[in-house]
Amino acid sequence: MRALSGIQPTGRFHWGNYFGAIRQYIALQDNEQAFYFIADLHALTTVREPNLLAEYTHDAAVELLALGLDPNRATLFRQSDIPEVTELTWLLMTVTQMHLLEKCHAYKDKKAKGLPSDAGLFTYPVLMAADILLYDSDVVPVGADQVQHIEVARDIAQRFNSMYGEVLTLPKAHVVEATAKVPGIDGEKMSKSYGNAIEVFEEPKKLRKKIMSIQTDSLPVEAPKDPEASSIFALYQLFATPAQQEQLAQRYRAGGMGYGEAKQALYDASIAYFAEAGERHAQLGSSPAVVNDILAKGAQKARKKGREVLDRVRKAAGIVRLEA
Ligand code: ADP
Ligand code: TRP
Repeated sequence: MRALSGIQPTGRFHWGNYFGAIRQYIALQDNEQAFYFIADLHALTTVREPNLLAEYTHDAAVELLALGLDPNRATLFRQSDIPEVTELTWLLMTVTQMHLLEKCHAYKDKKAKGLPSDAGLFTYPVLMAADILLYDSDVVPVGADQVQHIEVARDIAQRFNSMYGEVLTLPKAHVVEATAKVPGIDGEKMSKSYGNAIEVFEEPKKLRKKIMSIQTDSLPVEAPKDPEASSIFALYQLFATPAQQEQLAQRYRAGGMGYGEAKQALYDASIAYFAEAGERHAQLGSSPAVVNDILAKGAQKARKKGREVLDRVRKAAGIVRLEA
């Protein structure tokens, strides 16, 4: 069974990325067929600053490795190191119905807002389908917002197979519901683009400042509070054991605890949770050659599988190699 997922290098990873996606990647890596890549070609649709794209791509590798992605168990690579993926994108594009792409939210949202969009954004889900189908992926761990794209990949694969035979493996999304939507400091879904994100490798002073700025209602200290309605509590649940969660929930309900105290508990829990990863992050941050070597080896392995599947697809569609 192959697990595969990609993540865009559009900035440093935040808690939503970690709990909604990255943690699941890492949990699935014991499966020796796990493939994870940094989707730099996708990020090109939003990051238009070359130095920044290169920097984010490298940082994403460092962060994933620091968070526990083990290159001896999983294959980590950059999307752009596999040219087969862009060729497969074209082959898939020829069987992709327009209506499938027209209903995809990234494009639809931009269009609804009257913003200009380009062909890269419109065909983004086809590149994503190629990412998945190129390696015969079975399971795709992602956050809930990506499920639509996996469905599109399945639809494209099914259409290709109905025309050319059983060539492509149909993938399935793997979503963890409990953390499907991590709230940001304003209580809305945490996202880089909403400016409400808390980064995984945030510097402690900044981390504290951000946690202290989490929005709350204005109930006085003495008032009993509902943990279920509090984004501080929702975030605390990500880091704490069930017993610790129950303890804090009781303090909410009993009254006599201000939100500042709950924020402090969240700060302490998050620092402890990411302490080990923070050490690895500092180490890897100062060894770029080690990281580049991991990426190069990963690309080699992924390409081998990609070539095999692409050959199968080309042949099925009638693009055959010339005999010498
Ligand atoms: P952002 O919204 O910050 O730009 P991305 O869209 O790059 O994040 O998401 C990368 C991955 O992290 C996706 O699989 C996505 O589903 C997951 N993810 C992002 N934000 C959250 C969140 N707030 N809660 C849960 N998962 C999230
Ligand atoms: N679109 C995904 C995101 O923004 C990233 C991605 C690109 C991906 N290709 C993929 C995820 C293939 C899973 C499988 O999060």
